[in-house]
Amino acid sequence: MPVLLDARPYGSDRDEYMLAHYARQFAPLVDRDIRLLEIGVGGGGSLRFWADYFPKGRIVGLDMAAVDLREGSERITIYHGMQQDVNLLTRIACECAPEGFDVIIDDASHIGALTRISFWHLLTRHLKAGGIFAIEDWGTGYWDAWPDGRRATDPDLRRQVTPGATATDVTEFPSHVSGLVGVIKEIVDEVGMYDLSTGPGTTSPRRSRIDRLEILPGVAFVTRAAEPDVR
Ligand SMILES: C[S@@+](CC[C@H](N)C(=O)[O-])C[C@H]1O[C@@H](n2cnc3c(N)ncnc32)[C@H](O)[C@@H]1O
Repeated sequence: MPVLLDARPYGSDRDEYMLAHYARQFAPLVDRDIRLLEIGVGGGGSLRFWADYFPKGRIVGLDMAAVDLREGSERITIYHGMQQDVNLLTRIACECAPEGFDVIIDDASHIGALTRISFWHLLTRHLKAGGIFAIEDWGTGYWDAWPDGRRATDPDLRRQVTPGATATDVTEFPSHVSGLVGVIKEIVDEVGMYDLSTGPGTTSPRRSRIDRLEILPGVAFVTRAAEPDVR
């Protein structure tokens, strides 16, 4: 089956670069009866794209705007609501993917506080073990013009390294935790959970809920681990 790498005819804004990475991530799933949830669907064209991409898949969309998909498919279901409404997210999962989603794509608000609510709720409750969660446009967190974005080069965010300081004096790197950049860094903490949760003063070490995190310009892919256990 040829892999679709042009989303423009569907009215989706994903470019070839982005779709090539999706194709690599999704290759083992293409011919399977998967359940995919896309949060933030614009006019809905990307849902038609995913329905063609996964010919045996069930495609579910959620958007705060009403979506009228005239040329729909019986394999597509659309919900109207907010990504941060965890009760709605659970209802969608119970109705469309009671055994969990294989793929979840967040291309909605790109606001850190909202994205983190849906991410952690869905990752821990409604994404299958081994399932893939894509977070698009996380770089908005670096945009001064974005509501919760902020450039890492802001002088007040940089640690001032005094002239003559040695490498061992540097305990922090220029960084920031705003918006979606902050969400990605929170996810890095989860990847490192075993090391983070062991050591003096810790009582309950646990493995990470995340098996893999791939961060690319424009999209981050998180692969869910099996249930974490205690080593
Ligand atoms: C960038 S567009 C999605 C584009 C689409 N994924 C595509 O590839 O064509 C973002 C969408 O997210 C929706 N959105 C923004 N904030 C939202 C929120 N808090 N909850 C649900 N949807 C939201 C907007 O209505 C808009 O349709």
